[in-house]
Amino acid sequence: MSVPKSEYLSSVWRDNIFANRVVFVTGGAGSICSAQTRALVHLGANACIIGRNASKTESVAKEIALVRPGSRVLGIGNIDVRSFDSLKSAVDRCVRELGAIDFVIAGAAGNFIAPISGLSPNAFKSVIDIDTIGTFNTVKATIPYLIESAARNPNPNPDGTTGGRILAVSAAFHYTGMPLQAHVSAAKAAVDALMASVSLEYGPYGVTANCVVPGAIEGTEGMARLASSAVDKQTMGKGIPSGRMGSVRDIADATVYLFSDAGNYVNGTNLVVDGAGWRRQGGV
Ligand code: HXC
Repeated sequence: MSVPKSEYLSSVWRDNIFANRVVFVTGGAGSICSAQTRALVHLGANACIIGRNASKTESVAKEIALVRPGSRVLGIGNIDVRSFDSLKSAVDRCVRELGAIDFVIAGAAGNFIAPISGLSPNAFKSVIDIDTIGTFNTVKATIPYLIESAARNPNPNPDGTTGGRILAVSAAFHYTGMPLQAHVSAAKAAVDALMASVSLEYGPYGVTANCVVPGAIEGTEGMARLASSAVDKQTMGKGIPSGRMGSVRDIADATVYLFSDAGNYVNGTNLVVDGAGWRRQGGV
């Protein structure tokens, strides 16, 4: 069954702004990245989502395709972003079957709650490998296609179409430091630094590279892993200056903005979508 539009996209966007564009998404079957993909497909894009779990990735791809008749959504499973060769095989298949890569979302991530005393060196490394090395592998494997897309779609383009954009899904934990999240804080700090360098190296080619920084987003696998089940939505929302938890739609809308013509001068930045939650991380 198709997910209602109101759950992944606000009503302000014009249909078909991403017609004939292709988005490549790592971790695309996850709650946040599937909503980002759904929004882009709704607005005209075709998509390739990749993940480790084949049946989940393929079934989420089928479900995303329902949002727009005629869309093409490829789900490629058994891909681990920690392996460049594995990721590159998915990139090659995406280009072979969908013809191009215009947008990239580097969303694959690993997380669990653990104090430093409970983190083995391999546990710490596993999250660095998925988040940081995985994002690097994604940049490395897709950047030639993003450069080509940017050349076809100069930034800004008089006709308002866009291409050559890469977005990493980061976090705000490292802005203050975060207990039980040393591994993710370190991994995402490196993701931010990586994406800043991408913006500098590839900005001259017309590519934009940014991070979107979700706060506490309700209904996600990340929240299920991080928040105690005893903490309900209302209680958590009250601790956030904007008075509520975020939704996957908040992140999808931010993604649409960054990939649209409206975001064409936004490069090398982190768009924090968290109701100012991170400003209270220190308990202020
Ligand atoms: C301590 C743990 C642990 C835990 C695993 N490990 N869970 N250590 N506490 N709760 C250790 C293992 O013991 C092992 O170390 C090492 O981590 C690797 O574990 P494996 O299970 O062998 O690795 P793997 O199968 O590759 O799994 C990677 C993973 C797993 C990160 C551990 O959780 C995963 O696959 N996650 C992907 C999905 C996910 O996390 N989604 C949530 C993303 S949300 P030893 O020493 O025993 O070998 C998110 C939100 C970000 O990222 C923040 C947003 C605001």
